[in-house]
Amino acid sequence: MNRFSGKTALVTGAASGIGAATARLLAAQGARVLLVDIADEAGEQVAAEINGSGGEAAYLHGDVGSAAAWTAARDEVARRFGRLDVLHANGPGRVVDARPLHEMPEEDWDRQIGVSLKAAYLAAHTFCPMLAGNRGAIVITSSVHAHTGVPGCGPYAAAKGGLQSLARQLAVDYAPDVRVNVVVPGPTMSAAWDAIGADGRAATVRETPAGRFGRPDEVAAAVAFLASDEASFITGACLNVDGGWSVSTSSS
Ligand SMILES: NC(=O)c1ccc[n+]([C@@H]2O[C@H](COP(=O)([O-])OP(=O)(O)OC[C@H]3O[C@@H](n4cnc5c(N)ncnc54)[C@H](O)[C@@H]3O)[C@@H](O)[C@H]2O)c1
Repeated sequence: MNRFSGKTALVTGAASGIGAATARLLAAQGARVLLVDIADEAGEQVAAEINGSGGEAAYLHGDVGSAAAWTAARDEVARRFGRLDVLHANGPGRVVDARPLHEMPEEDWDRQIGVSLKAAYLAAHTFCPMLAGNRGAIVITSSVHAHTGVPGCGPYAAAKGGLQSLARQLAVDYAPDVRVNVVVPGPTMSAAWDAIGADGRAATVRETPAGRFGRPDEVAAAVAFLASDEASFITGACLNVDGGWSVSTSSS
């Protein structure tokens, strides 16, 4: 399938997990892809794999919470591609320890919001004009934490819920020139689960009607759909890719 033939894409958090799977899939479907991450070795490796399998990709170091990194990404996209069609605004997961808010230092709150919610502002602020020129699409990665409280995850939940509200707002502000949608993953096997022990993983599987973790490529398929012309009448939408986790009573 070459549904992104002639198109260009920027994927952040692209060195592993969902971002890497999206970069691989968009490239396999014809897009030229710029990968942005802070894990340089892994990011370079994903780009090299894509190039080695007939795709076209490059890697750029960039912290999604930094305005300067977004400016550098815009300069690189302009230099390398001259246009942008697809932006997958995908970042790290929870970057601070889980604890109730009264025990949470202000810097933890700022860090999570800064790397999750502010990154989406920076993405839109930096790239909407360029995307608008090509009737482009943004897909933002949220989480089922936006809808369901999980103990100790206040700033992560607030950021992920805020991303969904922000996407709806952007969909209105930039219509009809830029479509903005959200992918809402549930438990997806990636490095994000490395720190969770076997018991925690087994409990998560029990909570998930599909009876297993999702794979990053299953989330990437939803991102690619939302970014493609097949979704040309879809904007401001949130698509759960969670094996039924968010509609199951056992997850709440
Ligand atoms: N895995 C899950 O179960 C799950 C569930 C719901 C939502 N999500 C969301 O999916 C997104 C991707 O998570 P994943 O599971 O693929 O995790 P992952 O850890 O495999 O990938 C995250 C990537 O982000 C990069 N990164 C970290 N800090 C960064 C920064 N400041 N700037 C740029 N890149 C940075 C990491 O180096 C890594 O490559 C996250 O936003 C997460 O909240 C994941």
